[in-house]
Amino acid sequence: MQEPFVLPKLGIVVLMLAGLLQLPSPTPPTSPFVVQPYLQLGDLSNLSPVEPVRLLWQAPSDSGGKWAVDVRQGEADSWRPAVAVDGRLIPGDSPYRLFNVSLTRLRPGTEFDYRVSKDGVVVFSARGKSRSAVDQPYRFVVTGDTGADTPQERRVVHQIYRARPDFFAVAGDIVYSTGRMIEYRQKYFPVYNADTASPETGAPLIRSRLSFASVGNHDAGTSDLTRDPDGQAYYLNWSLPLNGPYGQAGLPNTQILKGPPEALKTHLGLLRSAFPRMANFSLDYGNSHWTFIDSNTYVDWSDAYLRNWLARDLASAKAAVWKFVVFHHPPFNSSRAHFTEQQMRLVSDIFEHRGVDVVFAGHVHNYQRTKPLKFLAKPAPDRTFKSAGSYVIDGDFEIDDTFDGSTDTTPDGVLYIVTGAGGAGAYDPDQTDNTPTWQPFTQKLISDTYSLTLVDVEGRLLRLRQVTENGDEIDRITITKPNSLKDSTLSQKPNGR
Ligand SMILES: [Fe+2]
Repeated sequence: MQEPFVLPKLGIVVLMLAGLLQLPSPTPPTSPFVVQPYLQLGDLSNLSPVEPVRLLWQAPSDSGGKWAVDVRQGEADSWRPAVAVDGRLIPGDSPYRLFNVSLTRLRPGTEFDYRVSKDGVVVFSARGKSRSAVDQPYRFVVTGDTGADTPQERRVVHQIYRARPDFFAVAGDIVYSTGRMIEYRQKYFPVYNADTASPETGAPLIRSRLSFASVGNHDAGTSDLTRDPDGQAYYLNWSLPLNGPYGQAGLPNTQILKGPPEALKTHLGLLRSAFPRMANFSLDYGNSHWTFIDSNTYVDWSDAYLRNWLARDLASAKAAVWKFVVFHHPPFNSSRAHFTEQQMRLVSDIFEHRGVDVVFAGHVHNYQRTKPLKFLAKPAPDRTFKSAGSYVIDGDFEIDDTFDGSTDTTPDGVLYIVTGAGGAGAYDPDQTDNTPTWQPFTQKLISDTYSLTLVDVEGRLLRLRQVTENGDEIDRITITKPNSLKDSTLSQKPNGR
């Protein structure tokens, strides 16, 4: 990731012109943005023959003016306009305009420049990157439980930026504490889209790289439209594939919203087709397939329809070398915190049968890595998998005790990573290296520092590292597949690439 452009904002341009014309310096104008531009993948259901990337931002509702977006791929390329730039009005106590613009005709796996203009003046520019092509190596970061407006969140985001990933994913609890738009504006966008990169500010990350996310309990933290009319902001702020199993509000296994009928109708109209569809989705990136699913307790993953959707989605990724799944509540967790919330164990068998390599979760605010494992849930005598109010799932384990990620790099089973140390207060720090407190399936547990998961994929070789808020490496494993690149130069490249 290159250093982002110095932003030729409206104020800078005006000040330069004033200097040239020997005019007195005008008062710097205010930013034209409520939320500065950032990249998203968008919906893949209407796939054009070119790589999709979308640019989103928010502006004041009364700002008026003519907006434009131009894109180019390389400095030899000429700027070309995006197809249409039109913000839709989001009403409410603080109305604003939400822009979601398609950046057209991008090549896979390449960087591109873009600039946003208002009334003919460039007000924002940055350099982004499209999804990697199937044969390209790539680097990604996963973190979770992040948007808490803490110094640790900003330091973790700075480390993500320093790692120069091709994209990153959030394993839920994107913002605290109820997933409202106002919380995104205070705790997520200013940090993940900061103008400068530093441990104190965060970094200009989401303007330059794609990001994906699953819905955590705090992202679905309000269903009361009377109290929180700007709730469910996930479905406005993220623009992700709309290929999930549920397309209609009010269905089982979706979040049920409450409020006066008219307010409910208005709210659902604003969220459009994203709610509840975008709670579950999948996408391909390079040689990998990614499935993001909703692990909140309003979802019953023993439901046959839902299980079939997940199994079919994973089975459809026949060409993928790697399969990754992301959700919020970890099925295998050794922390005392959230220990009984094991509802996602119900789909472990699907992960095993469909060849999932690594599952990433958050919710528990620390780092944990399991041994490769297989698990089959045992139903209770009443043939259900959990009693009322309890999410403890009993079952049979098969654990691979020989995989160590260095001498044995071929796991027999699924690896489960908890990477919930992204900024919200750490859980159970005394359990770090305190193995007697761990479950038999746990290989590593570090809960006395904030951290992120950094993964390099090159063909059939994967290297996973856990990096702290200060840049220190605290865990490292390698996973290889049959016919792996034994002489890979992965570890010899500059910057570990
Ligand atoms: Fe959580």
